[in-house]
This record gives sequence, C-alpha cells and structure tokens, in this order.
Amino acid sequence: MASSSSSYLQSLFGLDGKTALMTGGTRGIGANIALSLAKAGADVILIQRSEENTATRDDIIALGRSSRIVVADLASKESIKAVVPKVTGEWGLKVDIFINCGGIQRRHPAELFPDEDWEEVLQVNLSTCFSLARDVGKHMLDTRKEGDARGKIINIASLVSFQGGLTVPAYAAAKHGILGLTKAFSNDWSGKGINVNAIAPGYISTEMNTALIADPTRSRQILERIPSKRWGTPDDFSGAVLFLAGAGSDYVCGECLTVDGGWMAR
Ligand SMILES: NC(=O)c1ccc[n+]([C@@H]2O[C@H](COP(=O)([O-])OP(=O)(O)OC[C@H]3O[C@@H](n4cnc5c(N)ncnc54)[C@H](OP(=O)(O)O)[C@@H]3O)[C@@H](O)[C@H]2O)c1
Repeated sequence: MASSSSSYLQSLFGLDGKTALMTGGTRGIGANIALSLAKAGADVILIQRSEENTATRDDIIALGRSSRIVVADLASKESIKAVVPKVTGEWGLKVDIFINCGGIQRRHPAELFPDEDWEEVLQVNLSTCFSLARDVGKHMLDTRKEGDARGKIINIASLVSFQGGLTVPAYAAAKHGILGLTKAFSNDWSGKGINVNAIAPGYISTEMNTALIADPTRSRQILERIPSKRWGTPDDFSGAVLFLAGAGSDYVCGECLTVDGGWMAR
C-alpha cells in the first residue's frame, strides 16, 4: 500500500532524472526552491553572480543530486546572453525546468524614484526574466521529442503583480510585467509541450524585506492584514514549486499561484 501511494505521488510530483536551471538560488525563497527540487530528484544548475557562495550547491550535492554554478549577473544583458548557450551547448545539458527567482527591491517615495533604480529593477526583475525564459523555451522546443515529459517554466511574481505597493513603483511595474510574460509565453508554448506559470509570494521574511521588518509600524500593519497571522518563510514554497514543476500540473497553463497566507483573498 505504502509503495503504491509513493509511486502515485512520484508520478505527480517526482523529478527524478530532470535538470532544473534557476536564478536566485543563493538565499531566501530561491535557496528553498533549489533544495525542494533536489529533494524531489532533480539536478539543479544555479545561475549566480559569482562562484563564491557555494552553500546551495553544496547542500544539493549533499542530497545526492548534481549541481553546478553558471556565473551571470542578472543586471547585465551581455552576461545573460551567454547562460543558455553555456549550459545547453558547452555543458551539453537538457533543461527540463526553469525558474526565474532572482530579484531585487529598491524603495523610494514615488516622486523621488531615481531613473537608475528604475532601470536596474526593470532589467533584473523583468527584462532578464524575459531573455532567460525565451532562451530556455527555445531550447526546450528544439530538443523536445514525441512522448517527452512537458517542460516547466516558473516565474516568481509578487502581490505587487496585482497591487501597487508603497514606495516600490519599479518593482510593481516589473512584477505586473511578469504576469503578462507568464501568460504570453504560456499561450505560445502550452500547445508545444511547455507549461509557463507563476508563483506570487506574499510577505516572506527574507533579506529582501529587511527594511520592512525593521520598521515596527509597517511590519505590524502587514502582519495584522495577513489572515494566517504570520509572515511567510522560504519553506512555504516547497509544495507550490513541486506542483508546478512536476507532471501534476501538466494542464495548468499561464496561471499564478499566490502563496500569501490569505493576503489576496482579504
Ligand atoms: N521576500 C518577499 O516577501 C517576496 C515577496 C514577493 C516576491 N518575492 C520575489 O521572490 C524572489 C526571491 O526573493 P527573496 O525574498 O528570496 O530575495 P532575496 O533573499 O533578497 O534573494 C534574492 C536572490 O536574487 C539574486 N540576485 C539579485 N540580483 C542579482 C544579480 N544581479 N545577479 C545574480 N543574482 C542576483 C540574489 O543573489 P545574491 O545572493 O548573489 O545577491 C539572491 O539569490 C524575487 O523574485 C522576489 O522579487 C519576494
């Protein structure tokens, strides 16, 4: 009985033999996503700005999966161009799952928001996500054979994909864009064996929110509005990511799954 239930779960959420490529795996939500993929059986290639931080790679290897770091700066168009050719050409890997998780936040009153911060946030949180998903999608289309499992692309959105937030106009614009990109790629590719979906985290205690957590008034106001009565943690993303990365979501296309303790339902 136990073995039949575990093979059933394996058929829906297991990732044995799959290779995932992702950004943002060094820490926060992305580090948990990387380890969740590895625990479900995937090898994980980490796109990082340097090879200095090997913590996630080492943890994946300790789980018995393979992992490598491909160096790229998400703020640099030139650097991003080289990623997919390196992983799929030079290294000869076939990518089955791709996750756009890396991101930055810049906060200023809207009337003082500097152009440079606007441009950097739009590059890292939207343009780079477009370029990488496009390149991985093309690779998936080019390498697909009849009967292959579906390719899975997951973009990390935000509550400010739906709302405007406060003091974060660039981040809100980029994350609204992520939802559009998710639907647009999904429409082109869902009939060709690739699912493109998004996950929208609520308020999660990571370094990205250091400023909010340190502001007692904002921090209290946020907590009071969350129906689950707690901030989220990176661990809250394991189930959502395995659902969207595994075969259990093969007919889920262009969707955004909020993981927010009920914030959006309120
Ligand atoms: N935390 C939240 O409440 C929340 C809410 C909604 C959405 N999100 C989204 O969830 C995702 C992960 O957020 P998080 O809270 O886990 O953030 P985090 O702890 O601040 O981690 C950000 C990640 O992005 C990487 N990154 C940033 N700029 C980069 C660059 N130029 N080149 C290479 N890598 C870069 C970081 O790498 P380094 O370690 O090298 O800096 C790190 O891995 C982001 O897309 C974020 O927008 C978060």
